[in-house]
Amino acid sequence: MTKIKVWDGFIRSFHWLLVIAMATLYFSAEEAMMELHFVAGFFTIALLATRLIWGFIGSKTAKLSALIHSPIKAFKSFTETDEKPGHGAAGSYMVIAFFGLLIVQLISGLMNSDSILIDGPLAEYVSSDTVDFAGWLHNINFDILFYAIVLHVVAIAIYSIKGKPLVKAMITGSKEQQSPTPAKSVTKAPWLAFAIFAVLLIVLMLTWGKEPLSYLFS
Ligand code: HEM
Ligand code: HEM
Repeated sequence: MTKIKVWDGFIRSFHWLLVIAMATLYFSAEEAMMELHFVAGFFTIALLATRLIWGFIGSKTAKLSALIHSPIKAFKSFTETDEKPGHGAAGSYMVIAFFGLLIVQLISGLMNSDSILIDGPLAEYVSSDTVDFAGWLHNINFDILFYAIVLHVVAIAIYSIKGKPLVKAMITGSKEQQSPTPAKSVTKAPWLAFAIFAVLLIVLMLTWGKEPLSYLFS
């Protein structure tokens, strides 16, 4: 058994920060804490945008091009084990679905309004019909996102029962592999990704975040 690093520090931080952000967004929406919802929303935009940029310039296992597999390979991946580091073929479809659902949720949120006190920062630039549509989409897309999360967690649990410790790899970054020769490194240092994230976060907070932040900290 040799240990190989599969997920760089940014991918792992992205994943667990996304989980925290999703919980915060759900909780804040339920409790009508819209300022917190907006700040968590802007945080998620910076996080996802960095992940997508990292999908071009990051580690081999972070590359968006590595997510493209034929549907046949995805079906086969349920029964055959693939020792290659990175997402399996079926998992890749799930990752693409998550990125799509998150983009729709974030963009619709920016145009959404609670019809009383607070409007998303793009709501003033679109017609009231578009704001209504964005509100409808934001609700319905969240339901789909919710079921995708449930499916994702169930799939990960099934893999764990079958003896594939995927969660450990998403926490530590490494997995054990049955290969006599040490594998070439597939990960990059995450610092550039963290720097991009910091810049995007600061820009978003300075443009759209000032009001909700000053409300939260007053
Ligand atoms: C809000 C809930 C969640 C969301 C939105 C989510 C989303 C994602 C996304 C987008 C990826 C792809 C990572 C990337 O390439 O950037 C991923 C992978 C992964 N997630 Fe989650 N996740 C959630 C909850 C969880 C939980 C609770 C667990 C653990 C029980 C988990 C375990 C994993 C694992 C192990 C992988 C790697 C799968 C693989 O090896 O291909 N996730 N998740
Ligand atoms: C992935 C990120 C997001 C998630 C998961 C999310 C989730 C939700 C949920 C579950 C609701 C409650 C829907 C309902 O009434 O049943 C909601 C409402 C809302 N969201 Fe988001 N949201 C996200 C991003 C955003 C962003 C970026 C903004 C704007 C900056 C935003 C603005 C709003 C507004 C204004 C409402 C209130 C709608 C109303 O009261 O009728 N959301 N969101």
